[in-house]
Amino acid sequence: MSEITFVNNLYILRNDHISYILAVLPGGFLAHVHAGARLDSVNMDNLLRHAGLPAAADFTPKEGGLEWLPQAYPSFGLGDLREGALTVIAGDGTRAVDLRFVDAQVEDGKPALPGLPATFGDACKTLTVRLRDAHTGLEAMLYFTIFDDCDAVTRSARLVNAGDAPLTVTRAMSFCLDLPDHGYDLVTLSGGWARERAVVRRPLVPGEQGVSTRSGASSLQTSPFLALARPEVTEHAGEVYGLSLLYSGNFAATASVYQHGGTRALIGINDRDFAWRLEPGEAFQTPEAALVWSSEGLNGMSRAFHRLWNKHLLPQRWVNERRPILLNSWEAAYFDFDEEKLVSIAAAAKEAGAELFVMDDGWFGHRDDDFSSLGDWVPDPKKLPAGLGRLGERVRALGLQFGIWMEPEMVSPDSDLYRAHPEWAMQIPGREAVLGRHQLILDMSRADVQDFVIESVSRTLRDSGATYLKWDMNRNFSNIGSTALPPERQGELPHRYILGLYRTLDVLTKAFPDVLFEGCASGGGRFDAGMLYYTPQIWCSDDTDALCRCEIQYGTTLAFPPSTMGSHVSAVPNHQTARVTPMQARFAAALGGQFGYELDPRKLTDDDRAAMSAQTDYVRRTFETRMNGDFYRLLSPFEGNDTAWMTVNADRTEAVVTVIRSRSLPNTFPPLVRLAGLDPDAAYTVEETGERFTGRELMALGLCCPLPAGDAASLVYTLKA
Ligand code: GLA
Repeated sequence: MSEITFVNNLYILRNDHISYILAVLPGGFLAHVHAGARLDSVNMDNLLRHAGLPAAADFTPKEGGLEWLPQAYPSFGLGDLREGALTVIAGDGTRAVDLRFVDAQVEDGKPALPGLPATFGDACKTLTVRLRDAHTGLEAMLYFTIFDDCDAVTRSARLVNAGDAPLTVTRAMSFCLDLPDHGYDLVTLSGGWARERAVVRRPLVPGEQGVSTRSGASSLQTSPFLALARPEVTEHAGEVYGLSLLYSGNFAATASVYQHGGTRALIGINDRDFAWRLEPGEAFQTPEAALVWSSEGLNGMSRAFHRLWNKHLLPQRWVNERRPILLNSWEAAYFDFDEEKLVSIAAAAKEAGAELFVMDDGWFGHRDDDFSSLGDWVPDPKKLPAGLGRLGERVRALGLQFGIWMEPEMVSPDSDLYRAHPEWAMQIPGREAVLGRHQLILDMSRADVQDFVIESVSRTLRDSGATYLKWDMNRNFSNIGSTALPPERQGELPHRYILGLYRTLDVLTKAFPDVLFEGCASGGGRFDAGMLYYTPQIWCSDDTDALCRCEIQYGTTLAFPPSTMGSHVSAVPNHQTARVTPMQARFAAALGGQFGYELDPRKLTDDDRAAMSAQTDYVRRTFETRMNGDFYRLLSPFEGNDTAWMTVNADRTEAVVTVIRSRSLPNTFPPLVRLAGLDPDAAYTVEETGERFTGRELMALGLCCPLPAGDAASLVYTLKA
């Protein structure tokens, strides 16, 4: 259970495991007191003494007090030299803001955030603190929510211009976490196309460090997430904070160490390339950010995130539903197909146990390569002479669901849409357009563009009867200008784009509640908690190589549950790496997420086709445990030659363990993998070998995994209590 109390000028948010505490100091300064292990009270003077400050009763910001004070929502310019959470340019051109406490209220549940994805649910309590800057009239409503059933606190801020002159917000972070020391490693996720979300861990050093993006999306290069882990933290033990932003656009996540030794972590919209004008009476809502805390290492942090997203973020319609095993046409056919070919691939897919056939890129306009037609969402009569309707029907007649690919936010210069509406593309008039993958980006900040996208996607879904949509987005922002915004609002475009995207997704997912939306952005280029509010799964990476997938999926699970990762078996030699790995390894890796195929089943050997049938049976049988169980990383591909992870179902009666060894090494022991999350007193049978062990033995000593010979050797073990 959670509760929020106000005692001795302290707002204490707590549940059974964690507390988050704020203090209102004389003068109305809002201090951050504690986040972490559950505390029911705090001696505020002890903390102030540590910060070199007089007791609470005598607190004053004069003589540098703000520079040392841990704060809930600090700003720069009135004595605090650290990175602030908020910068606002006033009518007189000055940039300092001085927010002081006005009032606060506590409510059950949590309010929705207008226009933005946010956690939801009744099993939580929310504290809203109102702060005010007397000089400009700016008000900040800070929302803090604590959950009954998750070790998480979410925050966001709503800024209201209650003054009588326009203001410009140039920085408005979502979460600020001031910690009294800097004895932490910073853990972030970094990479690039086909190498998304590699785990990067290094000790904090004095100064600012972190990750950010200005590409317009949460990006291929990094992820809106950071963790602060004590140096001794392992996957299973030690104290960790995790911060995640529910946002799909430009963000910054930083941790800065200052001269007195404290750390300030901030996460929010990237203030580079951001300026938001607030006329009197207008409001700006920041995205929401979530803080989780665990004393059970990085796995503990991840489980806290997984639980929070599963229970309070993902579309609940899909959370507990077994998703269809899909076969996607992209690596099977690329742009080279027609109705007959697709139907024959679909028929072979059905025979091997697939449940959903997805037609990827290339079905519309005259798109025989990636140089044209984005925006013209009309089937190519050469490939689909009877349109989407007949293809959909023929696929369904095989006993499969039908799914379709679109890249709705884009327009090709060679398209009827661009010829009719050149002003709909994001652009800087007078400057040459910079293309990416030969395409331009539609200005999703415009309501008419959003309506066009809603109409095109709706028509495509209706005409095809598709029950699955892969929503792709394949380029970075450039020429960041809108023909619909006045000069003083051009700095709002990147965020307005994301708001337009969210509105579009909101309308469509509500209009088509039974269509499964899968996100995608050149693979995992927009894999974030903002998108997951609309699309319960996201194509994790364009890299389908089994060994690369070990790293990509291992890293992704730091912040996101396995059920959110689209994960497919593809053909060999692999199309991204040219590596040949055994079918078993490709299966073992793909089992770690929402399972599917990315190959032409007609071209498989008989052995591989038979393997496919056995695989799809296994996927169905173990779905609940693999996708909804507790997930544990066991061996890291970033630290050695072996990858291992496992999931355990809720009553700990079934577990699925996956082990993959990258390079075969002569004269080495097979891995002895210490398992986790089992019932120590239960006896488990390993289905594949018939051996029996106690949970205690498997966790204390480990399970010997004698891998077959050769590179990319793998094992999948199913444990039954
Ligand atoms: C992106 C996606 C791929 C595929 C292609 C189609 O790269 O990530 O899965 O859909 O686009 O052009």
